[in-house]
Amino acid sequence: MFTAIPPLESRLPKVGTTIFTVMSALAAEHDAVNLGQGFPDFDCDPKLVDAVVGAMRQGLNQYPPMPGAAALREVIAEKIGRLYGAEYDPATEVTVAAGATQAIFTAVLAIVRPGDEVIVLEPVYDSYIPNIELAGGKAVTVPMTADFRVPWHAVRAAVTPRTRAIMINSPHNPSGTILRDTDMRALEAIAVEANLFVISDEVYEHMVFDGEPHRSASSYPGLAQRSFVISSFGKTFHVTGWKVAYCAAPEPLSLEFRKVHQFNVFTVNTPVQHGLAAYMRDPAPYLGLSAFYQRKRDLFRAGLAGTRFRLLPCEGTYFQVVDYSAVSSLGEAEFSRWLTTEVGVAAIPLSAFSEQPVDRGLVRFCFAKKDETLGLALSRLSKL
Ligand SMILES: Cc1ncc(COP(=O)(O)O)c(C=O)c1O
Repeated sequence: MFTAIPPLESRLPKVGTTIFTVMSALAAEHDAVNLGQGFPDFDCDPKLVDAVVGAMRQGLNQYPPMPGAAALREVIAEKIGRLYGAEYDPATEVTVAAGATQAIFTAVLAIVRPGDEVIVLEPVYDSYIPNIELAGGKAVTVPMTADFRVPWHAVRAAVTPRTRAIMINSPHNPSGTILRDTDMRALEAIAVEANLFVISDEVYEHMVFDGEPHRSASSYPGLAQRSFVISSFGKTFHVTGWKVAYCAAPEPLSLEFRKVHQFNVFTVNTPVQHGLAAYMRDPAPYLGLSAFYQRKRDLFRAGLAGTRFRLLPCEGTYFQVVDYSAVSSLGEAEFSRWLTTEVGVAAIPLSAFSEQPVDRGLVRFCFAKKDETLGLALSRLSKL
C-alpha cells in the first residue's frame, strides 16, 4: 500500500550529477585516457601507507579528539609557521576535516546566515555556490578576466552591505593561475575595508611552478585574522580517496568552525591522521611536490606543443587548460564528450565551472598521471 510522503522540494534544484562523474563514467565506458577528473593514476609513497598501517597496528583505531589528532595538528601548525611565517595554536586554531570539501562547507556554515552575500570568482570550484545556498546565502559571482586573473576593481564593486565573505582559490582550479603578492594585498585591502571573512582554498599550495612562492592568506596579517585557510592532504600526498584535510583559522573563527564540524562529522579517521603526522615529520615529500609536478607539466606541454591545441599558462595545480578552437568548432561540453568517445581522451569543459556557461573553446586536462598515461593521451591528441 502506498501512502503519501511530504513534498520533496529540492534544496538544490539546479544541481545534477557533476561533470566530473559524468566524464569519468564516459571515459571508463569508452576506454578513454581519463585526464578529466583531478586525481593521480599512480600510488602514494609506500612509507605513508606503512605509517598508517603502523598506526592501526598500534591500536590507534578509536575516536580521536574532535578537532583532530594532536600530533597531526602540531605538524600542520609547524608547517604553516615554517612556510608562511604564520602562527596558529594547534590546540585551538587548527582543525582536521574529512577533506577540503567538508572543511569549506563547514567554514561557510559557520559564517553565512540567510540573506548574506558571498563573493566567488568564476570559474568557480563546483561546491562553493551550492554550499553558500545551503547556508541560506546568496553567491555573487565575479568573472575572472579572459586570462584568468582577478579583476579586483570588480570584486570591490561587488561588495554590498550584505557581503559577508569572499572565497578564493590559489593555485586556481581549473585555470592553473596563481594569486601573486599584489593580488593578496588587493584582497587584504578590500576584506579589511569591508570587514569580510575570507575562505582561502589552498589545496594546491604545494604545486606552484617556475620558482614562484605560494602566497597563503595566512602570510598577510589583515587576511589571516579573518581567514579560514584550507588545504587537503589528498592533493599533497596523492591520496585523494583518503579525504583528510585541515582548516587553520584564528581562535574565534576556529571555535565556530569546530561547533559545526562537531555535529557534522565529529571526528576524522584516526589511523590516517596518525600516519600523516608521522610521515610529515619529513618535509621533503611536500617540499618536493612542485618540482615533481613541474616535470609532468613540462612533459605534457612539450607533447601538446606539437598539436593544434593552444596552451594557456600553467603556474600551479595539476591542470592544463587548452584552447581547442583550431581543432573544432563544437561547444565545450560537446567537444569534451567527442574527445572522450571518438579520440579516447577525457577532458573537462571550462564552462562546467560557471553558473552561466560561456563557451570559450577551452577544456582542462589533468596531468597528475603516470608518464606513460600522459604519453598515450598525447599520442591520441597529436592525431588531431
Ligand atoms: C579547488 C579545490 N578545492 C577543494 C577540493 C576538494 O578537496 P578534497 O578532495 O580534499 O575534498 C578540490 C578537489 O578537486 C579542489 O580542486
